[in-house]
Amino acid sequence: MTDTPTTSPVSAAPASGGVAPNGVDALRAEHIAKRFGALTALRDVNLRLGKGEVLGLIGDNGAGKSTLIKILCGFHKPDAGRIFVNGEEVTLRSVDHARSLGIDTVYQDLALINELSVYHNMFLNREVVRWPLLNNRVMRRQAKAHLADMGVNIPDVTVEVAKLSGGQRQAIAVARSVYSDAKILLLDEPLAAMGAKEGALILDLVSDLKRRGDVSIIIIAHNYAQVLPVCDRVNLLQHGEITLDKRTSETSAEELTDLVVAEYRAARRNRQPS
Ligand SMILES: Nc1ncnc2c1ncn2[C@@H]1O[C@H](COP(=O)(O)OP(=O)(O)OP(=O)(O)O)[C@@H](O)[C@H]1O
Ligand SMILES: [Mg+2]
Repeated sequence: MTDTPTTSPVSAAPASGGVAPNGVDALRAEHIAKRFGALTALRDVNLRLGKGEVLGLIGDNGAGKSTLIKILCGFHKPDAGRIFVNGEEVTLRSVDHARSLGIDTVYQDLALINELSVYHNMFLNREVVRWPLLNNRVMRRQAKAHLADMGVNIPDVTVEVAKLSGGQRQAIAVARSVYSDAKILLLDEPLAAMGAKEGALILDLVSDLKRRGDVSIIIIAHNYAQVLPVCDRVNLLQHGEITLDKRTSETSAEELTDLVVAEYRAARRNRQPS
Protein backbone atom coordinates (compact mmCIF):
# COMPACT_ATOMS: atom_id res chain seq x y z
CA MET A 1 0.00 0.00 0.00
CA THR A 2 1.32 3.46 -0.86
CA ASP A 3 0.57 6.79 0.73
CA THR A 4 -0.42 8.63 -2.44
CA PRO A 5 -4.14 8.42 -3.19
CA THR A 6 -4.89 8.86 -6.89
CA THR A 7 -8.54 9.75 -6.37
CA SER A 8 -10.20 11.55 -3.50
CA PRO A 9 -11.70 9.50 -0.66
CA VAL A 10 -15.49 9.43 -0.48
CA SER A 11 -17.31 10.54 2.64
CA ALA A 12 -19.56 8.41 4.81
CA ALA A 13 -22.55 10.20 3.32
CA PRO A 14 -24.19 8.56 0.32
CA ALA A 15 -22.10 9.45 -2.72
CA SER A 16 -23.27 9.06 -6.27
CA GLY A 17 -24.64 5.61 -5.46
CA GLY A 18 -28.37 5.09 -5.09
CA VAL A 19 -30.14 5.85 -1.84
CA ALA A 20 -32.29 3.03 -0.52
CA PRO A 21 -36.00 3.69 -1.25
CA ASN A 22 -36.85 3.91 2.45
CA GLY A 23 -33.66 5.80 3.23
CA VAL A 24 -32.18 3.01 5.38
CA ASP A 25 -29.16 1.12 4.15
CA ALA A 26 -28.90 -2.62 4.67
CA LEU A 27 -25.31 -2.16 5.80
CA ARG A 28 -23.18 0.86 6.49
CA ALA A 29 -19.60 1.18 7.70
CA GLU A 30 -18.13 4.44 8.92
CA HIS A 31 -14.48 5.27 9.46
CA ILE A 32 -13.34 1.66 9.74
CA ALA A 33 -9.66 1.16 10.55
CA LYS A 34 -7.67 -2.03 11.02
CA ARG A 35 -4.00 -2.65 11.62
CA PHE A 36 -2.10 -5.90 11.75
CA GLY A 37 0.97 -5.02 13.82
CA ALA A 38 2.85 -2.34 11.88
CA LEU A 39 0.72 -2.81 8.76
CA THR A 40 -2.29 -0.58 8.21
CA ALA A 41 -4.74 -2.71 6.22
CA LEU A 42 -7.67 -0.25 6.48
CA ARG A 43 -7.20 3.41 7.31
CA ASP A 44 -10.64 5.05 7.09
CA VAL A 45 -13.24 3.06 5.19
CA ASN A 46 -16.71 4.46 4.57
CA LEU A 47 -19.06 2.20 2.71
CA ARG A 48 -22.80 1.79 2.29
CA LEU A 49 -24.90 -0.99 0.84
CA GLY A 50 -28.47 -0.06 -0.07
CA LYS A 51 -31.32 -2.52 0.43
CA GLY A 52 -31.56 -4.88 -2.53
CA GLU A 53 -28.38 -3.45 -4.00
CA VAL A 54 -25.40 -5.33 -5.46
CA LEU A 55 -22.15 -3.51 -4.70
CA GLY A 56 -18.93 -4.49 -6.46
CA LEU A 57 -15.90 -4.04 -4.20
CA ILE A 58 -12.68 -3.88 -6.13
CA GLY A 59 -9.04 -3.08 -5.46
CA ASP A 60 -5.62 -4.50 -6.04
CA ASN A 61 -4.18 -7.53 -4.26
CA GLY A 62 -3.54 -6.61 -0.65
CA ALA A 63 -5.80 -3.54 -0.79
CA GLY A 64 -7.72 -4.79 2.25
CA LYS A 65 -10.92 -6.11 0.64
CA SER A 66 -10.97 -9.42 2.51
CA THR A 67 -10.06 -7.66 5.74
CA LEU A 68 -13.06 -5.37 5.29
CA ILE A 69 -15.36 -8.31 4.55
CA LYS A 70 -14.04 -10.11 7.64
CA ILE A 71 -14.87 -7.05 9.73
CA LEU A 72 -18.37 -6.79 8.26
CA CYS A 73 -19.05 -10.46 9.00
CA GLY A 74 -17.85 -10.33 12.61
CA PHE A 75 -14.65 -12.34 12.09
CA HIS A 76 -12.24 -9.45 12.78
CA LYS A 77 -12.80 -6.63 15.25
CA PRO A 78 -12.08 -3.21 13.74
CA ASP A 79 -9.64 -0.96 15.63
CA ALA A 80 -11.97 1.96 15.00
CA GLY A 81 -15.21 2.78 13.24
CA ARG A 82 -18.92 2.05 13.39
CA ILE A 83 -21.15 -0.49 11.67
CA PHE A 84 -24.88 -0.15 11.10
CA VAL A 85 -27.20 -2.97 10.05
CA ASN A 86 -30.60 -1.80 8.80
CA GLY A 87 -29.90 1.60 10.33
CA GLU A 88 -29.07 0.27 13.80
CA GLU A 89 -25.54 0.53 15.13
CA VAL A 90 -24.10 -2.86 16.05
CA THR A 91 -20.93 -4.23 17.57
CA LEU A 92 -20.39 -7.51 15.78
CA ARG A 93 -19.17 -9.96 18.41
CA SER A 94 -18.64 -12.98 16.17
CA VAL A 95 -19.51 -14.55 12.84
CA ASP A 96 -22.47 -16.25 14.52
CA HIS A 97 -23.66 -12.91 15.87
CA ALA A 98 -23.44 -11.37 12.38
CA ARG A 99 -25.29 -14.34 10.96
CA SER A 100 -28.06 -13.88 13.52
CA LEU A 101 -28.42 -10.36 12.09
CA GLY A 102 -28.81 -11.81 8.60
CA ILE A 103 -25.22 -11.42 7.35
CA ASP A 104 -23.72 -14.43 5.59
CA THR A 105 -20.32 -14.71 3.95
CA VAL A 106 -18.50 -16.65 1.29
CA TYR A 107 -14.85 -16.34 2.32
CA GLN A 108 -12.06 -16.13 -0.17
CA ASP A 109 -10.43 -19.02 1.66
CA LEU A 110 -13.83 -20.74 1.65
CA ALA A 111 -14.07 -22.02 5.21
CA LEU A 112 -15.05 -25.53 4.21
CA ILE A 113 -13.97 -28.52 6.28
CA ASN A 114 -12.05 -30.88 4.05
CA GLU A 115 -12.89 -34.04 5.97
CA LEU A 116 -16.63 -33.44 5.92
CA SER A 117 -18.99 -34.39 3.12
CA VAL A 118 -20.42 -31.93 0.62
CA TYR A 119 -23.81 -31.89 2.33
CA HIS A 120 -22.37 -31.55 5.86
CA ASN A 121 -20.36 -28.57 4.65
CA MET A 122 -23.44 -27.02 3.10
CA PHE A 123 -25.18 -27.21 6.47
CA LEU A 124 -22.15 -26.31 8.59
CA ASN A 125 -23.32 -24.36 11.67
CA ARG A 126 -26.89 -24.51 10.39
CA GLU A 127 -27.48 -28.26 10.67
CA VAL A 128 -30.98 -29.68 10.36
CA VAL A 129 -31.61 -31.57 13.57
CA ARG A 130 -34.14 -34.25 14.44
CA TRP A 131 -33.52 -34.16 18.12
CA PRO A 132 -31.15 -35.52 19.36
CA LEU A 133 -29.57 -36.44 16.02
CA LEU A 134 -28.63 -34.69 12.80
CA ASN A 135 -31.26 -35.14 10.13
CA ASN A 136 -28.82 -36.35 7.48
CA ARG A 137 -31.52 -37.50 5.09
CA VAL A 138 -33.10 -34.05 4.87
CA MET A 139 -29.72 -32.31 4.60
CA ARG A 140 -28.64 -34.67 1.81
CA ARG A 141 -31.87 -34.08 -0.10
CA GLN A 142 -31.73 -30.30 0.28
CA ALA A 143 -28.03 -30.11 -0.59
CA LYS A 144 -28.68 -32.09 -3.78
CA ALA A 145 -31.65 -29.92 -4.68
CA HIS A 146 -29.79 -26.64 -4.08
CA LEU A 147 -26.78 -27.68 -6.13
CA ALA A 148 -29.02 -28.94 -8.95
CA ASP A 149 -30.95 -25.67 -8.78
CA MET A 150 -27.71 -23.76 -9.23
CA GLY A 151 -26.72 -26.03 -12.11
CA VAL A 152 -23.67 -27.32 -10.24
CA ASN A 153 -22.72 -30.83 -11.20
CA ILE A 154 -21.63 -32.72 -8.07
CA PRO A 155 -22.98 -36.26 -8.53
CA ASP A 156 -22.44 -37.41 -4.96
CA VAL A 157 -23.06 -35.05 -2.02
CA THR A 158 -21.70 -37.64 0.42
CA VAL A 159 -18.07 -37.32 -0.80
CA GLU A 160 -15.53 -35.37 1.26
CA VAL A 161 -15.00 -31.87 -0.12
CA ALA A 162 -11.24 -32.56 -0.10
CA LYS A 163 -11.87 -34.69 -3.18
CA LEU A 164 -13.49 -31.89 -5.18
CA SER A 165 -12.01 -29.34 -7.55
CA GLY A 166 -11.45 -25.71 -6.52
CA GLY A 167 -14.44 -24.56 -8.58
CA GLN A 168 -16.74 -27.21 -7.11
CA ARG A 169 -15.67 -26.24 -3.60
CA GLN A 170 -16.39 -22.63 -4.37
CA ALA A 171 -19.82 -23.52 -5.71
CA ILE A 172 -20.62 -25.28 -2.43
CA ALA A 173 -19.56 -22.25 -0.41
CA VAL A 174 -21.71 -19.97 -2.56
CA ALA A 175 -24.71 -22.31 -2.46
CA ARG A 176 -24.43 -22.48 1.33
CA SER A 177 -24.80 -18.71 1.63
CA VAL A 178 -27.35 -18.21 -1.09
CA TYR A 179 -29.71 -20.82 0.34
CA SER A 180 -29.40 -19.48 3.86
CA ASP A 181 -32.00 -16.96 4.95
CA ALA A 182 -29.41 -14.21 4.93
CA LYS A 183 -30.48 -10.76 3.82
CA ILE A 184 -26.93 -9.49 3.40
CA LEU A 185 -24.46 -11.60 1.44
CA LEU A 186 -20.75 -10.87 1.43
CA LEU A 187 -19.09 -12.72 -1.44
CA ASP A 188 -15.29 -12.57 -1.39
CA GLU A 189 -14.09 -13.56 -4.86
CA PRO A 190 -16.77 -16.18 -5.51
CA LEU A 191 -15.64 -16.43 -9.13
CA ALA A 192 -11.94 -16.95 -8.47
CA ALA A 193 -11.67 -20.69 -9.06
CA MET A 194 -14.58 -20.91 -11.45
CA GLY A 195 -14.46 -21.97 -15.08
CA ALA A 196 -16.38 -19.83 -17.57
CA LYS A 197 -19.60 -21.81 -17.19
CA GLU A 198 -19.56 -21.96 -13.40
CA GLY A 199 -18.66 -18.26 -13.20
CA ALA A 200 -21.67 -17.40 -15.35
CA LEU A 201 -23.78 -19.62 -13.13
CA ILE A 202 -22.78 -17.71 -9.98
CA LEU A 203 -23.40 -14.38 -11.68
CA ASP A 204 -26.83 -15.56 -12.86
CA LEU A 205 -27.59 -16.50 -9.28
CA VAL A 206 -26.61 -13.03 -8.09
CA SER A 207 -28.85 -11.53 -10.80
CA ASP A 208 -31.75 -13.74 -9.67
CA LEU A 209 -31.28 -12.62 -6.06
CA LYS A 210 -31.16 -9.01 -7.23
CA ARG A 211 -34.45 -9.43 -9.07
CA ARG A 212 -36.00 -10.77 -5.87
CA GLY A 213 -34.97 -7.47 -4.31
CA ASP A 214 -34.80 -8.55 -0.65
CA VAL A 215 -31.13 -9.51 -0.53
CA SER A 216 -28.27 -7.00 -0.53
CA ILE A 217 -24.90 -8.17 -1.78
CA ILE A 218 -21.26 -7.11 -1.71
CA ILE A 219 -19.23 -8.98 -4.28
CA ILE A 220 -15.44 -8.82 -4.62
CA ALA A 221 -13.95 -9.69 -7.98
CA HIS A 222 -10.84 -8.95 -9.99
CA ASN A 223 -12.43 -9.42 -13.41
CA TYR A 224 -14.28 -6.12 -13.69
CA ALA A 225 -15.78 -6.79 -17.11
CA GLN A 226 -17.30 -10.01 -15.80
CA VAL A 227 -18.74 -8.65 -12.56
CA LEU A 228 -19.88 -5.13 -13.48
CA PRO A 229 -23.03 -6.21 -15.35
CA VAL A 230 -24.55 -7.65 -12.14
CA CYS A 231 -23.58 -4.68 -9.93
CA ASP A 232 -25.57 -1.52 -9.25
CA ARG A 233 -22.60 0.32 -7.81
CA VAL A 234 -18.90 -0.15 -7.52
CA ASN A 235 -16.46 0.92 -4.80
CA LEU A 236 -12.70 0.98 -5.25
CA LEU A 237 -10.57 0.31 -2.17
CA GLN A 238 -7.12 1.90 -2.32
CA HIS A 239 -4.69 3.07 0.36
CA GLY A 240 -7.03 1.77 3.07
CA GLU A 241 -9.93 3.96 1.93
CA ILE A 242 -12.79 3.83 -0.56
CA THR A 243 -11.51 6.15 -3.27
CA LEU A 244 -14.29 5.70 -5.80
CA ASP A 245 -18.03 5.18 -5.39
CA LYS A 246 -19.93 5.15 -8.66
CA ARG A 247 -23.03 3.68 -10.20
CA THR A 248 -21.94 1.04 -12.70
CA SER A 249 -23.71 3.05 -15.41
CA GLU A 250 -21.23 5.88 -14.69
CA THR A 251 -18.06 3.83 -15.04
CA SER A 252 -16.55 1.01 -17.07
CA ALA A 253 -14.17 -1.90 -16.67
CA GLU A 254 -11.61 0.16 -18.61
CA GLU A 255 -11.83 3.11 -16.22
CA LEU A 256 -11.49 0.86 -13.18
CA THR A 257 -8.56 -1.03 -14.69
CA ASP A 258 -6.84 2.26 -15.51
CA LEU A 259 -7.24 3.46 -11.90
CA VAL A 260 -5.77 0.28 -10.44
CA VAL A 261 -2.91 0.22 -12.95
CA ALA A 262 -2.20 3.92 -12.32
CA GLU A 263 -1.90 3.14 -8.61
CA TYR A 264 0.58 0.38 -9.31
CA ARG A 265 2.65 2.62 -11.64
CA ALA A 266 2.68 5.48 -9.09
CA ALA A 267 3.86 3.07 -6.38
CA ARG A 268 6.61 1.80 -8.68
CA ARG A 269 7.75 5.33 -9.53
CA ASN A 270 7.90 6.14 -5.81
CA ARG A 271 10.13 3.12 -5.22
CA GLN A 272 12.60 4.00 -7.97
CA PRO A 273 15.65 6.09 -6.97
CA SER A 274 15.48 9.54 -8.61
N1 LIG B 1 -4.55 -11.99 9.74
C1 LIG B 1 -3.64 -11.14 9.21
N2 LIG B 1 -2.49 -10.89 9.85
C2 LIG B 1 -1.57 -10.04 9.36
N3 LIG B 1 -1.72 -9.38 8.19
C3 LIG B 1 -2.85 -9.59 7.51
C4 LIG B 1 -3.87 -10.48 7.97
N4 LIG B 1 -4.89 -10.49 7.07
C5 LIG B 1 -4.52 -9.64 6.09
N5 LIG B 1 -3.32 -9.11 6.34
C6 LIG B 1 -2.60 -8.12 5.51
O1 LIG B 1 -3.50 -7.03 5.28
C7 LIG B 1 -3.38 -6.57 3.93
C8 LIG B 1 -4.75 -6.68 3.26
O2 LIG B 1 -5.03 -8.04 3.06
P1 LIG B 1 -6.39 -8.53 2.43
O3 LIG B 1 -6.39 -10.02 2.47
O4 LIG B 1 -7.49 -7.82 3.10
O5 LIG B 1 -6.25 -8.00 0.91
P2 LIG B 1 -7.19 -8.22 -0.33
O6 LIG B 1 -7.55 -6.87 -0.86
O7 LIG B 1 -8.29 -9.13 0.02
O8 LIG B 1 -6.20 -8.90 -1.37
P3 LIG B 1 -6.49 -10.05 -2.49
O9 LIG B 1 -7.09 -9.34 -3.67
O10 LIG B 1 -5.11 -10.55 -2.81
O11 LIG B 1 -7.36 -11.09 -1.88
C9 LIG B 1 -2.31 -7.40 3.28
O12 LIG B 1 -1.10 -6.70 3.33
C10 LIG B 1 -2.24 -8.66 4.13
O13 LIG B 1 -0.97 -9.22 4.13
MG1 LIG C 1 -8.83 -10.99 -0.56
